[in-house]
Amino acid sequence: MPYTLTTPLYYVNDKPHLGSTYTTIACDALARYQRLRNGSVVFITGVDEHGQKIQRTAERQGVSPQEHCDRISSTYRDLWARWGISQDRFIRTTDPRHLDLVQQFFERVEASGDVVTGRQTGWYCVDCEEFKDDPAEAVDPDCPIHRKPLEWRDEENLFFRLSRYQSAIEELVNRDDFIAPASRRQEVRNFVAQGLRDFSISRVNVSWGLPVPGHDGHTFYVWFDALLGYLTALLDDGGDVDLDRLEQSGWPASVHVIGKDILRFHAVFWPAMLMSAGLPLPHRVFGHGFLTREGQKMGKSLGNVLDPEVLLERCGTDAVRWYLLRDIQFGDDGDFQQQRFVDLINNDLANTIGNLLNRTSSMARKWFEESVPPGRDGAGADHPLAVQAAGAVSTCLEGLDRLAFKTSSEALLQLAIAANGHLNDTAPWSRMKQPGQESVVAIDLYAVLEAARIVGVLLSPLLPDLSGRILEQLGNPRAADRWEDQLVWGGLTPGTPLPQPSPVMQRLELDEPL
Ligand code: MSP
Repeated sequence: MPYTLTTPLYYVNDKPHLGSTYTTIACDALARYQRLRNGSVVFITGVDEHGQKIQRTAERQGVSPQEHCDRISSTYRDLWARWGISQDRFIRTTDPRHLDLVQQFFERVEASGDVVTGRQTGWYCVDCEEFKDDPAEAVDPDCPIHRKPLEWRDEENLFFRLSRYQSAIEELVNRDDFIAPASRRQEVRNFVAQGLRDFSISRVNVSWGLPVPGHDGHTFYVWFDALLGYLTALLDDGGDVDLDRLEQSGWPASVHVIGKDILRFHAVFWPAMLMSAGLPLPHRVFGHGFLTREGQKMGKSLGNVLDPEVLLERCGTDAVRWYLLRDIQFGDDGDFQQQRFVDLINNDLANTIGNLLNRTSSMARKWFEESVPPGRDGAGADHPLAVQAAGAVSTCLEGLDRLAFKTSSEALLQLAIAANGHLNDTAPWSRMKQPGQESVVAIDLYAVLEAARIVGVLLSPLLPDLSGRILEQLGNPRAADRWEDQLVWGGLTPGTPLPQPSPVMQRLELDEPL
């Protein structure tokens, strides 16, 4: 079975922001890790193109919704390519195959007796594309998230009978392995414990949506259609759109990675829809936190939105990936602080890792014929750096297994710090001046280079570009085919030529705010 993982399908009301870039980078690290560990992966991302929010955005811009979607979808696609995102599928919910799938799915749900007609009254937020339960004020309330007026709706819609799934969903969300991280479980459990109410899955006043078969004038509620995009993406493998093929195509997903704001849709509504259609449930839903900037919520009105294009151009992928993955515990909220960003990149990547590699390989080249010194026999598995490396490898992998990218990044950084420490303690530059010490220096330099190699290999899923440059600087050692074997101490072969070093990571200088 492949490891199937998904990002949310992003609304195309606007171009990508840092939030969507953050989720996508984290998923990319996870996808790369799973490919290295298990081989077969289906990494799904894409865009959610229907609904009133998008319809209105297009109207405001004086273009057709389809034109608008085409434009923003390609912005996403291009941006992900420039960030080096390694997705296997990119799904657009305006893909005609998706309509086919949504209709098949609906027919199954209808055949299960889970579709009923009902009257929907309540306050709706178009920006959230969601009915708000009991807003605080009864008269002209605003959306608590978007601070815009809610709209009163009173219409006859089709409803999904979520209430029938009360006990099954309760059991699911009470499990300890479905919702991650653990800190997000209680909120969902409380929501379910209040009693699940049927929810409307069609709209009569939204033309920019997929038509509901057999119910003229109804289009699907954007969330019903969007969640199904994950399935369409899986079936986009050259075969037919046929729900019966799902389980051979990588369903169920190993994990849906999403922001905490859309946990309810993924951990409650979605599993119930799948149960109704007789399909297996995803193994896990991981709800990450929100990013703020210098302690403030990012928003257009505040004028403090961080544009991922600008970040990419001015700082490059390695720097941004490192900051996001290393500084924020994935799952918790995180704050983007420019000074801290610059400091971390310069300290961790340019100094601790970059300089380590540079000065060690310069010394090795100078004293050992431009190649890896003959120190492998003297730097065996009991060498202090080898012991440190083994610990770093196991902590790093264990962290990646549970999407704790911060733990993994810190573990590999600690190894680089220890290697720097070893270099300073053993001071090969002075020892080399003493007679007969060459073989001791060879062992010390070999151990440090080997630690740097393991840092480079561990970085591969997290910062693939920097990882590539580190390994190139070490003469591209092919220690083994399997990634786990590359992580075993002793992979550098003495005598391997070392190329002329050049900094693997430029220092970041940001004179102006991003
Ligand atoms: N279209 C729906 C998802 C459908 S999935 C079948 C949607 N799209 S979205 O574009 O509005 O949001 C996508 C993701 O971005 C959400 O997971 C949301 O949590 C995340 N983020 C939006 N702002 C964010 C931050 N400031 N920080 C981190 N993530 C944030 O919801």
